[in-house]
Amino acid sequence: KMFLTAACGLAMMAGTAMASCEDGETVVKFSHVTNSDKHPKGIAAQLFADRVNEEMNGKMCVEVYPNSTLYDDDALLEAMLQGDVQLGAPSLSKFETFTKVFQIFDLPFMFKNIAAVDEFQASDAGQEMKSSMERRGLLGLEFWHNGMKQLSANKPLLTPDDAKGLKFRVQPSDVIIAQMEAIGASAQPMAFAEVYGALQTGVVDGQENAWSNIYGQKFYEVQDGTTETNHGVLDYLVVASTDWLDSLDPEVKDQMLTILNEVTTERNGAVNDVDMEARQAIVDAGGEIRELDDTQRQAWVDAMRPVWDQFAEGVGQDNIDAAQVINE
Ligand code: LMR
Repeated sequence: KMFLTAACGLAMMAGTAMASCEDGETVVKFSHVTNSDKHPKGIAAQLFADRVNEEMNGKMCVEVYPNSTLYDDDALLEAMLQGDVQLGAPSLSKFETFTKVFQIFDLPFMFKNIAAVDEFQASDAGQEMKSSMERRGLLGLEFWHNGMKQLSANKPLLTPDDAKGLKFRVQPSDVIIAQMEAIGASAQPMAFAEVYGALQTGVVDGQENAWSNIYGQKFYEVQDGTTETNHGVLDYLVVASTDWLDSLDPEVKDQMLTILNEVTTERNGAVNDVDMEARQAIVDAGGEIRELDDTQRQAWVDAMRPVWDQFAEGVGQDNIDAAQVINE
């Protein structure tokens, strides 16, 4: 109880309203790792909670725990299987120990933008991916978008050669590790909440992330600058345990899933605005953003793209081909 009170206090400090649940309501803990302001996931999670708490008052009550105040992503999925947390939205890179199907989203330069990601996910192949972890007890409910990934370091990065010998924090993904090795850098998987400190103290030299995370975690403060590479995708899966979903009253479950679906449509539709707002907020705060010319960008493509060959068999050439058709 003390722990929950402390987590609740931290969430309040982070500017997130915590619902006070009433007796008889099904309490749903939604745990995630990002901030709530100018952040696609933070905004969507809070909107979902606000709507459930209003429209399902007396039946269901959602408490959002942002900023890793309850679990980091490593612990989240195990906690979900134990029934200690009901909803989360880890990035697709965090599911690798449960399924390899999401590796396609980590392959560098696979999707040209978030609209292409959206179209791929809406296809039959994309929708089937949501059920890929069912035998492990997890069900994907909705894909939530964030944005394209950018690269930052403690020195200017204009060509892949600039990254040689540097150490980058990465999410726990074999694909992203291979991507860093392809540019002659090394990769250190690390929890999101630890990245700012690791950049500040020089444990790692750089990192890759979407604008909203570079802004939300203030990485720009402890990096020389961020290069607008748009080399990869940061996207999420809203996930729950099959045991918990099965335990819900069917009508309650349907109403919750309908609200989740409506929130998904609304917030995924607004994601580019949130992304650009976060980018601008970095500039306004004095962060350096470097753009690439076509030749420079092509050098990053040439250096990173060979990674596809290492993972094509697992990801499926048909999926890669489908993604490329969408890019055209
Ligand atoms: C990361 O670990 O960098 C991201 O997955 C964090 C997030 O949820 O956006």
